[in-house]
Amino acid sequence: MNSDMESCIKIVKELKRKGTINAYVLTGAGISRASNIPTFRGEDGLWEKYNFEEVATIDAWLKNPTKIWTFYAEGIDLILNAKPNPAHESITKLQDHGFCKYIITQNIDSLHQKAGSKDVLEIHGNITRIRCMKCNEKQIYTEPPKEIPPMCKCGGMLRPDVVLFNEQLPHELINKAFDIAKKADLVFIVGTSAEVVPAATLPYISKKNGAKIIIFNKEKTEHVQIADCFIAGKCEESLPKFLNMLLNQ
Ligand code: APR
Repeated sequence: MNSDMESCIKIVKELKRKGTINAYVLTGAGISRASNIPTFRGEDGLWEKYNFEEVATIDAWLKNPTKIWTFYAEGIDLILNAKPNPAHESITKLQDHGFCKYIITQNIDSLHQKAGSKDVLEIHGNITRIRCMKCNEKQIYTEPPKEIPPMCKCGGMLRPDVVLFNEQLPHELINKAFDIAKKADLVFIVGTSAEVVPAATLPYISKKNGAKIIIFNKEKTEHVQIADCFIAGKCEESLPKFLNMLLNQ
């Protein structure tokens, strides 16, 4: 496994020379850290501060909706005010220049879309989209809910349209993600701990089908086992550098 930018550029340019690159980016919470959104694991991670079983499972929702909604309302406020950072912007430029097609994100913060990226698969949902637990109607929040817990006009309780622990991922979306993973010849993995399935399995599927794997992360994760290149450091610094070298060398 290489750990320098030059090797990374070489891999991408070689694929480009052979024809169109069929790449996707898999992102996790680390890419939004510089936009002031906390990660889940590691120091300052949300799961250090909160027990996920008490705030991120369906049982917890049903047991104490007011407590859980207070937690999520804070998250909605944070995310509505967050702006994309240079890592999100670099990915948009990678897409614009034909170096990647899809973004498969575990993030629920819309920052890829705010940075102008297209074809974003939000496999864990989106916190600003809410849905009724009774009639299933969906809405988009442009500000945090005023009443907690917020209720639908049908009388059902509203919940953010995110995937909680032990819940199934949306079928169509995850099938599409698996299909993209199978067909890819290049995968960029950015800011994810590789601890949550099925998202973490996608790069293994791609590798098995011959794809090259490039990781941008502050630290090594399980995915380094299959990586062709690992670029250590903050992705809001390394991705713009990588993009600049790729476009100007
Ligand atoms: N640049 C690059 N990598 C970073 C940065 C940064 N500035 N800051 C943190 N990281 C890395 C960490 O080293 C870690 O590997 O980002 C990763 C964040 O890992 P997690 O907090 O586990 O986030 P994620 O991988 O997205 O979690 C997956 O777990 O709890 C669930 O549903 C939740 O979608 C989430 C899923």
